[in-house]
Amino acid sequence: CGIVGYVGPQNALDVVLEGLRRLEYRGYDSAGVAVLADGRQATAKKAGKLANLEKVLADQPLPESTIGIGHTRWATHGGPTDRNAHPHLSADGRVAVIHNGIIENFAALRAECESAGVEFSSETDTEAAAHLLATTYAGTPEGPGRLAEAMRAVSRRLEGAFTLVASHADEPDTLVASRRNSPLVVGVGDGEYFLGSDVAAFIAHTREARELGQDQVVEIHRERGVTVTDFDGTVVEPTAYTVDWDAAAAEKGGHDWFMLKEIAEQPQAVADTLLGRLGEDGRLVLDEVRLPDQDLRDIDKVFVVSCGTSYHAGLIAKYAIEHWTRIPVEVEVASEFRYRDPVLDRSTLVVVISQSGETMDTLMALRHARDQKARTLAICNVNGSTIPRESDAVLYTHAGPEIAVASTKSFLAQIVACYLVGLFLAQIRGIKYADEVAAIVEDIRGLPQAVEQVLAQMEPVRALGRTLADADTILFLGRHVGFPVALEGALKLKELAYIHAEGFAAGELKHGPIALIDEGTPVVVVVPSPRSRESVHGKVVSNIQEVRARGARTIVIAEEGDDDVLPYADHVIRVPRTPTLLAPIVTTVPLQVLACEIADCRGYDVDQPRNLAKSVTVE
Ligand code: G6P
Repeated sequence: CGIVGYVGPQNALDVVLEGLRRLEYRGYDSAGVAVLADGRQATAKKAGKLANLEKVLADQPLPESTIGIGHTRWATHGGPTDRNAHPHLSADGRVAVIHNGIIENFAALRAECESAGVEFSSETDTEAAAHLLATTYAGTPEGPGRLAEAMRAVSRRLEGAFTLVASHADEPDTLVASRRNSPLVVGVGDGEYFLGSDVAAFIAHTREARELGQDQVVEIHRERGVTVTDFDGTVVEPTAYTVDWDAAAAEKGGHDWFMLKEIAEQPQAVADTLLGRLGEDGRLVLDEVRLPDQDLRDIDKVFVVSCGTSYHAGLIAKYAIEHWTRIPVEVEVASEFRYRDPVLDRSTLVVVISQSGETMDTLMALRHARDQKARTLAICNVNGSTIPRESDAVLYTHAGPEIAVASTKSFLAQIVACYLVGLFLAQIRGIKYADEVAAIVEDIRGLPQAVEQVLAQMEPVRALGRTLADADTILFLGRHVGFPVALEGALKLKELAYIHAEGFAAGELKHGPIALIDEGTPVVVVVPSPRSRESVHGKVVSNIQEVRARGARTIVIAEEGDDDVLPYADHVIRVPRTPTLLAPIVTTVPLQVLACEIADCRGYDVDQPRNLAKSVTVE
């Protein structure tokens, strides 16, 4: 969910709505705001996207105010209805609360409130927090910090993960917030203060931020400023940092969709992720990975753990890291990893990949790995987010803010970061492919240029996409690193175009999936380089023949100059010559463009697909 809070001289509603617009990618099932005016809470909330709420506000404006909170929701407890939208008010209407996360002991808390005579007006877990806060506040002695004190008392009673932000009609200068396992940052402007689930909420106003730790409560007060304590009330000094993204980076910049802009930014994202990390002498410079060399030499197994698109980056990492280092690599989705008792110890390196750095499944997997004494390395795009903070080492991707829910530029940046990790491990451990590694470093330098080249040839792919808009199933095939690319191509199509899509290892086709192929079924095949080992290329060409013989319409992604595919391809999409392990960086791009175009043709919101959210901070 997206969370915004504001106290300062400006019109709070404008600031809050603007913040919500920038955070809408975090959830868009419903939205709501509450401002304090004339000693009362004034709220508006509406199911659906933020635009629906904006319409309501245009018809029924809220009173002017300089303090307010707002929320865009990704539903957990209770469906996405007007009633369940946040903010939630206490029974007396004095307290307004917005919430991200899941309060696990909510049934017990709800029962407690109900037995005290409170009638609930929603099905959410959040509402229980609003009622509790109101009664706790009533029992807290008057004086500065009273609302924060009540928030601490309530927070101590909550189980689960949450960011809560609250205001009270008796306190027109104060917002309080609490966090456990759920993101929250504070923005400090000139005489004004902001709360946000991430810095996008306020970068248009200030770049000065304060990072909150685990189990902390923050009070922002018009005069007193920012006060942070732990749940017991001990004052703690929050870490201050300056945000280096500029506000323009989070604007569409002339593109129809954020996703198109982010696809176009991929050469830069790859270049920035490499910047300063490839030494002149072909050696990797990863001083920021602060794991002692000896620890890295002792590693005898690597796990890569992540979700969604980041998981696909992990699958690609496996091929590269195993090949370059000869260390066995296992890849697993985070939500499974933690619950199956994986074999981990001090000599295991667990690499967690997360664009947002906040995905709860990934965070929990990371904590499990740490508990088991494994070494942990995060690959992450958001500075200061929870996952890198809790990892032993971090390698940041420098893709810049990614707003579209479907991940594109951060995926390429993650793959590049995985290459760097693999090569770095190889360098430190000294391995048999030393020459190959040096050559690969040179090839990696050429990747931004290669992506640029692919992007320049996307017009025919868009045209092809328009012919596929009516398909009900599209299959994707690949071998070796082309297999995760096929999975990612299928995921993009599912996410954006709501078309049934599946990715298969091309060799598995004959063991079942080939039965799906019917006259005209579109099949996208990611073809490896003809220079790939052990004639993987030849085998994939045979697979194209097999599906074509059964009526498939074949869409083939192949290297320039690879003419072997021509007799069996209904459409060929060309990518520049690239070494096999690096090929995903170029072969992924047309699949992103294809999914985007098909979704657009079908009339869907490319940036905010239904039911999804960009950063899922619940398990
Ligand atoms: C969500 C998004 C996906 C993303 C996944 C992992 O499900 O919709 O696009 O790949 O989370 O996100 P992360 O921030 O951990 O990379």
